[in-house]
Amino acid sequence: MKNVNIGIIGVNGRGRLWRFWHNPAQGVTVSAGADKDLAELEKFKERCNKDAFTTLDYKEMIKRPDLDGIVVATPDFLHAQMVIDSLEAGKFVYCEKPLATTVEDADRMISCSNAHPGKLMVGFNMRYMPFVKLMKEIVDSGEIGEIKAVWVRHFVGMGSIYYYHDWHADKRNTGSLLLQKGSHDIDVIHFVTGHNTVKAAAFGGLDFFGGKNANTLECTQCDKKDSCIDSQVPVLDMDGKPARRFCAFRKEVDVPDNYTCLFELDNGIRVSYNECHFTPDYHRNYTFIGTKGRLENSEIDGTVKVWYRKNGRNDQPDRVIDLKIIEQKETEVGHGGADPLICAEFVRMIRGEITAPVPPEAGRNAVIAGLAAQYSLEHGGIVVPVNPS
Ligand SMILES: NC(=O)c1ccc[n+]([C@@H]2O[C@H](COP(=O)([O-])OP(=O)(O)OC[C@H]3O[C@@H](n4cnc5c(N)ncnc54)[C@H](O)[C@@H]3O)[C@@H](O)[C@H]2O)c1
Repeated sequence: MKNVNIGIIGVNGRGRLWRFWHNPAQGVTVSAGADKDLAELEKFKERCNKDAFTTLDYKEMIKRPDLDGIVVATPDFLHAQMVIDSLEAGKFVYCEKPLATTVEDADRMISCSNAHPGKLMVGFNMRYMPFVKLMKEIVDSGEIGEIKAVWVRHFVGMGSIYYYHDWHADKRNTGSLLLQKGSHDIDVIHFVTGHNTVKAAAFGGLDFFGGKNANTLECTQCDKKDSCIDSQVPVLDMDGKPARRFCAFRKEVDVPDNYTCLFELDNGIRVSYNECHFTPDYHRNYTFIGTKGRLENSEIDGTVKVWYRKNGRNDQPDRVIDLKIIEQKETEVGHGGADPLICAEFVRMIRGEITAPVPPEAGRNAVIAGLAAQYSLEHGGIVVPVNPS
């Protein structure tokens, strides 16, 4: 089995996926890291691999001949150039979602990927979550007939913690939270149905976060830090420091926190998608409605339920699948969750055992659908055509 060497760009945050790759005994070594932050590189060496090559300049890292694969785990707007440079350096590339923050960047990445086929995959780890895999299996089996409608509600209850205290809250960095957060869901809709978005319309806005506070105001310095339920003070990172720093009610915040979107897919499936960043609870609820029945997940009680159409009303599900049993089985075989599974797929792709498991076109299709919806909400909810790959 080929030994694989991986380098990571952006070693903190999502870059800590290194823990699912670095396993020299299994022939996988995370042997390099690049980051703009020297302190993060030091911690990366200490925690992951003391012999790792580290650099402040990712271009120094990607030209190293010992590296087979590059992981791009930096803020969204940086993905495009880092991915293109890494592909041009001849590497396999794992790009975190969203693929890009503009249509132009996504198209540049697809062109580059076409010039270096089979080398780029996108980090849509939700495809590996047990409930998503199960929903896809049920839809593919034809059990609920031909899918005609999809309804998705995303309760982003930790919205303040994850998105409004740092770079995520500035549209220049993310394009829209419909990419940063929603691209996962849009991809699941495309993946499970096997069809892509061709039209989008949306209403939405910044209804809760943002405000008049100074951009430099940090939660730790704020006189409301003990009473504000959106304060970052109690949320600590691995080093015991507030994970993200700035006030969620500062002036520069400009990404909507409340989205109601409609999508039409290429075979006429109608989709409604809701994403709200100030709900108390945090979970996703998907419903797929077909000509023979419907399917719905509940992350709260860990189930997928199936109802069949019958002669008369049928309120009680005909099948209730307990995901805890499936998740336990996966744990027993060493695959507790989606992240280790998708990381293993990148290694298999590098070893030539599989083709790109989440192809770049899927990343582009989610980005362009999310951007079309963002454009619509900024232009009175008009219908925006989308041209999938
Ligand atoms: N698939 C998932 O479930 C998932 C989960 C979280 C984040 N992500 C994605 O991972 C990416 C990173 O998000 P995050 O939350 O980890 O962000 P983060 O801010 O916590 O970490 C980003 C890292 O990149 C580094 N960095 C920033 N600018 C850089 C530059 N110019 N050159 C080199 N390094 C640079 C930072 O120092 C930091 O180490 C995003 O694209 C995000 O969408 C995906």
